[in-house]
Order: sequence, then structure tokens, then C-alpha cells
Amino acid sequence: MDNIIKIGLFGLGTVGRGVYRTLEENSDIIQQRVGVKIEIKKVLVRSLNKERGISIPEERLTTDPNDLIADPEIKIIVEVLGGINPTLDYVLAALNSGKSVVTANKDMMAEYGQRLFKAAQNNNCDLLFEASVAGGIPIIRTLKQSLAGNRIEGIYGIINGTTNYMLTKMFQEGCDFKDVLSEAQAKGYAESDPTADVGGFDAARKLTILASIAFNTRVPLSKVHTEGITNITVADITSANELGYTIKLLGIAKERPEGIEVRVHPTFIPKDHPLASVGDVFNAVFVRGNAVGDTMFYGKGAGELPTASAVVADIMDAARDILRNVPGFIGCTCFKEKPVLDIGETYSKYYIRLKVADKPGVLASIALVFGNKEVSLKSVLQKEATGKTAELVLVTHRVLEQNVQDALMDIKQLSSVLDISNVIRVEGEE
Ligand code: NAP
Ligand code: HSE
Repeated sequence: MDNIIKIGLFGLGTVGRGVYRTLEENSDIIQQRVGVKIEIKKVLVRSLNKERGISIPEERLTTDPNDLIADPEIKIIVEVLGGINPTLDYVLAALNSGKSVVTANKDMMAEYGQRLFKAAQNNNCDLLFEASVAGGIPIIRTLKQSLAGNRIEGIYGIINGTTNYMLTKMFQEGCDFKDVLSEAQAKGYAESDPTADVGGFDAARKLTILASIAFNTRVPLSKVHTEGITNITVADITSANELGYTIKLLGIAKERPEGIEVRVHPTFIPKDHPLASVGDVFNAVFVRGNAVGDTMFYGKGAGELPTASAVVADIMDAARDILRNVPGFIGCTCFKEKPVLDIGETYSKYYIRLKVADKPGVLASIALVFGNKEVSLKSVLQKEATGKTAELVLVTHRVLEQNVQDALMDIKQLSSVLDISNVIRVEGEE
């Protein structure tokens, strides 16, 4: 133990392989930086005979988690199995046997973070999870440590690579939603069930983790208002372009005196906003702190080596804490209980696309309903008029969401309104 720390790896898939490779290829600098050698003693897999594209001694592989959990020589467990069952049980068992845990598992951290932290604290262990949000981008350590002196006012994140890839292709090349989703799946960006990506749920899990850290309160996943990108059409993309916006799936978390806002939804942002230029499968997290001002962290949000970069840094931190005898040094940072606001209590600008009857007085009747609900309009565009129907594109000023929803309920009842085709929030403008 004096000059070597042995670790156990749960999983040798995409991320596990990257961790194995990085620990091998960078072993010299890792040893110099930590002060001891880090060695993988055992690896838990499902299948012992799989071709893995790396050279690993057969005797290091096992299908029995207890070969790692019950081994007193193993001080750190690296969990890159994924999912919740049986992973949560394995991780709890590892913590309860006094081992520090490094995980890339956003699903598990988003739903069971509190329980895992309790187990880590009870056993004086580290629980580190940098790779669970935005892959290779060091955002969790940044929020917990580098920006610790700030009150975080807001986080705006492109935290799902699949949907960013899809929106970029739809925007730049006019690609069709289905074709571009198949491409994202073929490239290995999407989750095994891509509903988690396109439905916004993957981003919601990551946002829950970020918001809980940024605002020092546990933000339940169920409280994150979540919308995906499945309703985005060519008409919305064209309108966004004409109005000077691009569309991104954003995870937004803000602290207001009344509570915390947490929401994931497609968002119009101005083309000159720093997040607008984040294309392809890249992720970026824009953080506004009351001391530092605006900051943005950019990089690859997924993939073998970018994700391994974050996991390996966590392993090194856990190893340093073991060497200094301070595991659990930076534990759970949810010190307070703050309310999470309902989506109706949030403020935004709104892009609203309507199909209406093409006749005099229609616009006036719609404007009247918005006015009655205190929704003030910034711009109105008539896009297409056939003589029978017309398409209207409205952009509001910053207003309360509940007022917009109430106005839309009334507008739906107007006989001249044929369809409320889409409603997308607009952010990033003062
Ligand atoms: P993966 O390629 O599917 O690999 C999973 C590994 O775990 C495989 O080696 C598999 O064994 C093993 N495994 C799964 N269930 C097992 C069980 N019950 N018992 C024993 N072994 C089991 O997954 P991944 O893409 O590496 O993702 C791992 C974790 O990292 C997930 O939580 C994911 O959300 C997170 N993550 C992934 C990325 C990314 O870019 N892939 C980025 C950020 C975070 P076999 O090989 O024998 O099947
Ligand atoms: N499916 C996820 C994404 C993988 O597209 O961002 C990384 O968590």
C-alpha cells in the first residue's frame, strides 16, 4: 500500500476500456502526480470471452462482484457498469466495506445520490462522479471547488451530445429528425434507448446533479421540468434562423429568492451567444457566478477517452485522499433545503408559432388575449398566407410562464386559431 494503490474496475465497456488505456498509457505521469502507482487488480464484466480490443491478463477478469468488494487490497472501486440494477447494490456494498468509489453513472447519482453520500460519509469514503455530467468537461470539481467562493446565479448547459449533434445537423444541413437520430446512434452517441436523449431525460439527470451542487440543495429529478426535441420542425428552424437565433436543448438552473428553477427544453438563443457556437456532439456548460461573472466550460461530453479523462482524475483524487488519510474530504454539499419552483413560476421570452384563418381581425383577437393575460408581444411575423390559412410567428417579452399558458388556453378556444404549432422558450438575451 505504501507505493501502490490497487483499484477494482466494475465494467470494461466503452468507458472502462478508456480508463484501462489511460491508466496504462499515462502511468508515469499519474504516478508522479499522485506519488504512488495506481494498479487495476480486478475487473468485473458480464462475459469473460468478449473481444475487448485491449490486452488484459485473463486472470484479472471476473464475473463475481465479491472478488472486488471483499478484497481488502482493493481500496478504490471504479463503477462504469451503468444502470441502477444491480449497480446500486454493488456500489453500496463497496462503500459499506470501506472502499472509495468513482462513478460515471448519472442515472444512479441523479436518483440515489443522497443514499450513496450517506453510505460514503458513514464509512469515511470518497464518492466522486465527475464523469457523470458532460463527460470530459471538469464541471463538478469546478462547481464544488474552483467556484466555491461564488453564489451561483445560473447554469445553462448543453449537456446531451446526441441532441446537440442532431440539432446542429438539422440546422446546418436541413437533415430530417429520423435520419439524423440514426446517424447519432450509429456513431455511438445515443443511449441504448435514445428516448433518454431526444426526450431530454438524460440532460435532466445531469442537470439534477449540477443544480444540487451549485445551489447546495438536493434537487429531485422529478422536479426538473423536461421537454425534448421531438417537436422541433423545419418551420421552427427556419423561423429561428430568420429571427437571429439558433435552437439548443438547454439544461437551465437558476436561483431566485423564491426558489430554484430547473428545466430542460429546446431553447432559442441568439446566434452570438457563446453557447450558440457549440456544435456537433460537443457539450458546454455556461456558469454565472456572483464573483466570477460569466464562465463557460467546453469539451467532449461522451466517448471512451474524454470520459476516462474525468474518471482517472477522480481515481487520482481518491488515491491522494487515501494517502493523506482523509477519504470523504469533500463529501455531499447539499447543506440546505430550498424549494424547487413550478414551471409556471418561471420567467422567459417565448416564440409561439400559430396556424390561423387568413382573415381580417385575427391578429387583433390574439393580441387582445395576450394583453388580457399580461403577456406583452415583442414581435409578430406573418409567415405564409394562402388566402385560407396563415402562419403567425410571435415573440413575447420576458413574461411569467403561467400567464403564457393561460393565454394559450384561451387562444386555443378562438375559432380563427387552427393550431398552436409550437411554443419554444427564448433565453440568453438581456
Ligand atoms: P458499456 O459500454 O455498455 O459497458 C458496460 C460494461 O459493464 C461492460 O463491460 C459490461 O460487461 C459490464 N456490465 C454491465 N452490467 C454488468 C453486470 N450486471 N455484471 C457485470 N458486468 C456488467 O457502457 P459505457 O458506455 O462504458 O458506460 C458506462 C457508464 O458510464 C454508464 O453509467 C454511462 O452512463 C456512463 N457514461 C458513459 C459515457 C460514454 O460516452 N459511453 C459518457 C459519460 C458517462 P461486458 O463487457 O462483459 O458486457
Ligand atoms: N447519450 C449521452 C449524450 C452520452 O448524448 O450526451 C453521454 O452521457
